[in-house]
Amino acid sequence: MLRVFFPFALALEDRISSRLGESEVPFKALESGALAEGGVVTEGSAGSSAISLATVAPAYGCRCHVVIPDDAALEKAQILEALGATIERVRPVSITHRDHFVNIARRRALEASELTSTTRKENQIDANDSSQINGHSVNEEKQNMKFPSECKGGFFADQFENLANFRSHYEGTGPEIWEQTSGKLDAFIAAAGTGGTVAGVSQFLKDKNSNIKCFLIDPPGSGLYNKVTRGVMYTREEAEGRRLKNPFDTITEGIGINRLTENFKLAKLDGAFRGTDMEAVEMSRYLLKNDGLFIGSSSAMNCVGAVRVAKALGPGHTIVTILCDSGMRHLSKFHNADYLSEHGLTPSANGLEFLGLS
Ligand SMILES: Cc1ncc(COP(=O)(O)O)c(C=O)c1O
Repeated sequence: MLRVFFPFALALEDRISSRLGESEVPFKALESGALAEGGVVTEGSAGSSAISLATVAPAYGCRCHVVIPDDAALEKAQILEALGATIERVRPVSITHRDHFVNIARRRALEASELTSTTRKENQIDANDSSQINGHSVNEEKQNMKFPSECKGGFFADQFENLANFRSHYEGTGPEIWEQTSGKLDAFIAAAGTGGTVAGVSQFLKDKNSNIKCFLIDPPGSGLYNKVTRGVMYTREEAEGRRLKNPFDTITEGIGINRLTENFKLAKLDGAFRGTDMEAVEMSRYLLKNDGLFIGSSSAMNCVGAVRVAKALGPGHTIVTILCDSGMRHLSKFHNADYLSEHGLTPSANGLEFLGLS
């Protein structure tokens, strides 16, 4: 009854031309002059996008600085450090808070650019033998900075709002799915982190064939389900930008948001489903046992969504979803038996009975 295509190899997230188009972001920024060689690309990320950016930034002669919520699995921060990125792990707070990880990342890019102009002025002042800029000592200002003084400015990659994200899925992921299925698919479903995947793919597929149904699968703690099905993020706790996404909302990482991003706004969706943490955990174990796939929480949630769509459409349909994260980046939480037990998420299913299938 159920056929789920896996259009990407699991190693995709480590491929240089990542699905989010991160490899293009520094390139385009360099091309436009927004970023200079020797500059720093900053990003606020639960991990995966930042890992892609940190991988490609050095190849463009740039540094990468990442602000990551401290509830993200520790191994993601370790990978970022191994890639040479500088990282800040910060408390998860609402997007309206100035210290939300995305807002800090935006600020860091500005600080890097200010540092560059300060250093430039300092060099000019040195020539005049003075150590003051606007009444502050140059050394005092430099001590507060997170970047070396030779840094050549900052650029905030802005995965949530930067439409290069949408375009990479419209021009890359969508066509890849179309080719691999020979255009014979009935539905697509994915969760949204920034919304880039679901927006780019849904728009591409609908442009190709408007009969293809596109859906969102939404994890606990996210307001997008209500937005898609009822038009508003209407509950108090899910009011846009207000809800504190905390570690107990969900075990998933990198999916689910409580605000409308520029990328998500471009999605062409026919509906949405909700998925639970327990279903995601069970699905990941089911796919490991039955298909030899070791997947992360986003991929597991996507597959839960694929089953929901399969049940809704009935037998004989081809449904596509995406495996966007491997289990390797989820060893300390999603694939940790002690952590799961502490949170009442120990898997016990033998098959797909947790989704009502025998
Ligand atoms: C682990 C993980 N899952 C899912 C997504 C969702 O993709 P998108 O941001 O395109 O909505 C991301 C995005 O960064 C991610 O890092």
